[in-house]
Amino acid sequence: MDAFEYRDGQLYCEQVNLDDLTRQTGTPLYVYSRRTFEDHYDRIARAFVDLDPIICYSIKSCGNVHLCKLLANRGAGMDVVSGGELYRAQRAGAVMNKVVYAGVGKTDREICDAIEARIGWFNIESEAEFENTASIARRMGATASAALRVNPDVDPKTHDKTTTGKKESKFGVDIERARRFFERYGRDPHLKLRGIHLHIGSPVYTVEPYVEAITRALALIDDLAEQGHRVDTLDIGGGFGADYESAQSPLAADYAAQLVPLLKPFHDAGGRIILEPGRSIAANAGALLTRVQYIKLGGRKKFVIVDTGMHHLVRPTLYDAFHFIWPTSVAPMHQPATRAPKLDMPGLETCDIVGPICETGDYLAKERSLPPVTRGDLLCVFSAGAYGMVMASNYNAMPRPAEVLIEGSKATLIRRAETYEDLVAPEAEATAL
Ligand code: LLP
Repeated sequence: MDAFEYRDGQLYCEQVNLDDLTRQTGTPLYVYSRRTFEDHYDRIARAFVDLDPIICYSIKSCGNVHLCKLLANRGAGMDVVSGGELYRAQRAGAVMNKVVYAGVGKTDREICDAIEARIGWFNIESEAEFENTASIARRMGATASAALRVNPDVDPKTHDKTTTGKKESKFGVDIERARRFFERYGRDPHLKLRGIHLHIGSPVYTVEPYVEAITRALALIDDLAEQGHRVDTLDIGGGFGADYESAQSPLAADYAAQLVPLLKPFHDAGGRIILEPGRSIAANAGALLTRVQYIKLGGRKKFVIVDTGMHHLVRPTLYDAFHFIWPTSVAPMHQPATRAPKLDMPGLETCDIVGPICETGDYLAKERSLPPVTRGDLLCVFSAGAYGMVMASNYNAMPRPAEVLIEGSKATLIRRAETYEDLVAPEAEATAL
């Protein structure tokens, strides 16, 4: 599942003892395993090899330049959703014609930058966006490629806030509208409409919604061909699951077992397949380490108050997401054999694990079983590599934590912790306008 493992009651990431590491770095700390990060990318590449896809790593899931570099070096493209993410992709050395750019609200400046960078595809979300992008390309005397994001109206059965492929979503256009879209814009000389893009939601723990959405997209591509519009690219988006609990998610090979045969005829006819995985690569590759500050009893409740919270990992607050949390140093009887909301072990206590932020919603876990912990103990919040650090904020003027990359027995600081100075730096001068 990943390279975070207990040995003799001590938690290691690859060969690094995490208690030792935090004595050097302090807490809170995001820590990533290079082995897991690359292995999860390789598994997807292997599983889909028969389609020779471009795997565009979704930077929004975990965007540290040093991590993106690891994947760029393996030949990955990047999926970006802002000028800032495009900049990260450039800094990571990604090959620009393997970059896809999604998002419903691209600004003129972002579009210009992306055209200048010669990205592979704009994933277009509306008629207005197509017209604006095409006219910018025309003014620049450039030619760019586009895929139309189609909303296939399937239910991925995931959290409401991360469901994107249903009819009432703000993303893409429905299939009927897609036909008219190609009629209207399919022959634009500056923005060549050559692809269909899907992204149905995240995380999607079954393969069926993909099968349904792709089947609809392939039928659309056939119809468009009859109308004289050749679609040579099908981008199936991201959304593959991750193991927040042990063995919770299908493996890359499980998704591929159904999707490769479905997509093979399109590929064999000269079509290009794009995947946009983020979470399935990054989630299990990262963890958030935090130190217990205080224990507090309140009524029947026991609160474990830690030095991180919703400002550094907002997923529990925002989506009621489950992250397995466990002390990094435990007695042999408390060494967890599996990650699950309830573990059957003697001597566990039920508690809420909460942060220092002035919000009742600031918690990492509620009613969670833990071995007894005391002030100063180190806890690991597992599977926090995706949508962790990238969604962190400075709320309550809290600096964001450092990030460390583990490679075997080597640990490298790949982002320093923010300082109080960093918090006020953009306010250093007040300028009259
Ligand atoms: N492609 C597009 C167009 C997307 O919008 C996303 C994610 C992805 C690819 C990557 O999906 P992934 O493979 O990582 O599931 N903050 C939420 C997840 C939001 C996902 C947004 N879009 C969370 O923490 O669960």
